[in-house]
Amino acid sequence: PKLTILDGPDEVADHVAGIFADAVVANPSVVLGLATGGSPVATYGRLIDRHRTAGLDFSRVTTFNLDEYIGLGPDHPQSFRHFMQQQLFDHVNVNLAKTHVPDGCCRDLDAHVAAYEAAITGAGGIELQLLGIGSNGHIAFNEPGSPADSRTRKVALTQETIDANSRFFDSIDDVPRTAITMGIGTILESRRIVLIATGTSKAEAVAAAIRGPRTIDCPASLLQSHDDVTLVIDQAAAAQL
Ligand code: F6R
Repeated sequence: PKLTILDGPDEVADHVAGIFADAVVANPSVVLGLATGGSPVATYGRLIDRHRTAGLDFSRVTTFNLDEYIGLGPDHPQSFRHFMQQQLFDHVNVNLAKTHVPDGCCRDLDAHVAAYEAAITGAGGIELQLLGIGSNGHIAFNEPGSPADSRTRKVALTQETIDANSRFFDSIDDVPRTAITMGIGTILESRRIVLIATGTSKAEAVAAAIRGPRTIDCPASLLQSHDDVTLVIDQAAAAQL
């Protein structure tokens, strides 16, 4: 993977927002893959700024999010659909009909995940996929042990991920135990991948992802088999390289 090491989270957000803005300008109908969690929030803020100040036009952009908690509907404050509305979609001119987040309350899960994969394919595939990384090396909700050829599916979250994500919930008991996630195989079909990691809590996972063996024990290490992955990280996240 390519590696861009910047001073801190602000510089990372500026840089990644630039990559995404350039992709939208180059192709106004671009298909973007988006992530939730803390890592992309500042990047989304920069994209909102560019929309407001420079007219960055999202009207023809299509988006697919990586994942969603099972059991949380779109209006639930901790659902990833709600997160995307709050952090990006409500503040730019995206066509909501072109935004896709897995439905954590779907009635027929098998049909839903198949339709999600078909929608990605039908849109022409994902041109540029944004990723974060879990401190255990997960990408999307592909926890350690996830097969390299996995597709969009239901998964169980590890205790480590439940603990990490409890910061967004009132109580750890409120954190869903299962989720729908794009698979590693799904993610690897994106034409370009940009992974954000900031802070010392990500340093070990970043080192394993880049320097370690390609192993399902560290799902992010499976990105080594893709020919256009860039990790944009800060000094703290680079501490163990
Ligand atoms: C989010 C996602 C997760 C996060 C990861 C890091 O859609 O798929 O893999 O990217 O858990 O989360 P933060 O950024 O909150 O540290």
